[in-house]
Amino acid sequence: MRHLFEAALARRTRLRAPGTDMFRLIDGEGDGLPGLELEDFAGRWLLSTRDRRPPAQLLAWLEDQQRPVYWKRLDQQQKESPTPLFGPRQNEPFTAGESGLQFEISFQSGYSQGIFLDQRDNRAELRSRLSPGDTLLNTFAYTGAFSVFAASAGATATTLDLAQPYLDWAKRNFQLNGIDPAEHYFCKGDTFHWLARFAKQGRRFTGIVLDPPTFSRDKDGKVFRVEKDYGRLLELALACLTPGGFLLSSTNCRTLSPRMFERQLREVAPRTVQTRHAPMPADFTAEPYLKSIWLET
Ligand SMILES: C[S@@+](CC[C@H](N)C(=O)[O-])C[C@H]1O[C@@H](n2cnc3c(N)ncnc32)[C@H](O)[C@@H]1O
Repeated sequence: MRHLFEAALARRTRLRAPGTDMFRLIDGEGDGLPGLELEDFAGRWLLSTRDRRPPAQLLAWLEDQQRPVYWKRLDQQQKESPTPLFGPRQNEPFTAGESGLQFEISFQSGYSQGIFLDQRDNRAELRSRLSPGDTLLNTFAYTGAFSVFAASAGATATTLDLAQPYLDWAKRNFQLNGIDPAEHYFCKGDTFHWLARFAKQGRRFTGIVLDPPTFSRDKDGKVFRVEKDYGRLLELALACLTPGGFLLSSTNCRTLSPRMFERQLREVAPRTVQTRHAPMPADFTAEPYLKSIWLET
């Protein structure tokens, strides 16, 4: 088994780039190791396993690495914070880099650690599409990583999420990069409500990011399911786009095929809209569950 771990790491050496120290080191079946994922956050490793206990050979190899290693179970029901396995405890948030930008990472804040590495290439593309004077609307923003990339290009970012703790985390991510959050906008609440409000106010954005959870329920109990409601979401977002603007539509819904996803988008997008499917980053070698479509008006 050891040779599989080493081979997975060796496969990623060529992906290392200055300014980025967060990677997926092992990606389950893509590296011949079903049910195992290993991510590197600035030298701290996070192991995720489908099984209750990581295999003994893996534990022995991880212990040899002499670094902080944390572990969590890939569990759809019990979304718990990782627990320490080896090395010094990481009891405080720390920073890690991507494309020269810094982000706050935490092993204490629940199931997700502050950034989703599978969106790395989309964040880089977003930055390359924006210039000073442009505006980005980042919906379902979580800790605002897309917003930080937009702001680093000189654009004004509007960061929207249901959860105030994530908006506060996003502001800290701005500050880590020397960007004043007061020069940007933060909106707490439901994406659907805000999109309708922006459309009514005539507020338009150069770029919009839509990356909703597979399932969500607003405060009135109204349910959103990616498989059937993405078109409705896109329709609302298109009404808030500047002519000539772009939109990133993403979903990690495994049961939705890329073709069905595009069909949902096509049903509501004007015929003139161009679409392009973006692949997942090269360190994600298993099933390409993340579907990302760039739409250009
Ligand atoms: C999967 S994360 C999004 C990841 C993010 N796009 C990124 O790449 O970092 C989902 C986020 O959507 C937020 N959320 C869920 N339902 C929402 C809603 N109806 N309106 C706004 N935010 C919502 C959650 O609080 C969470 O931060």
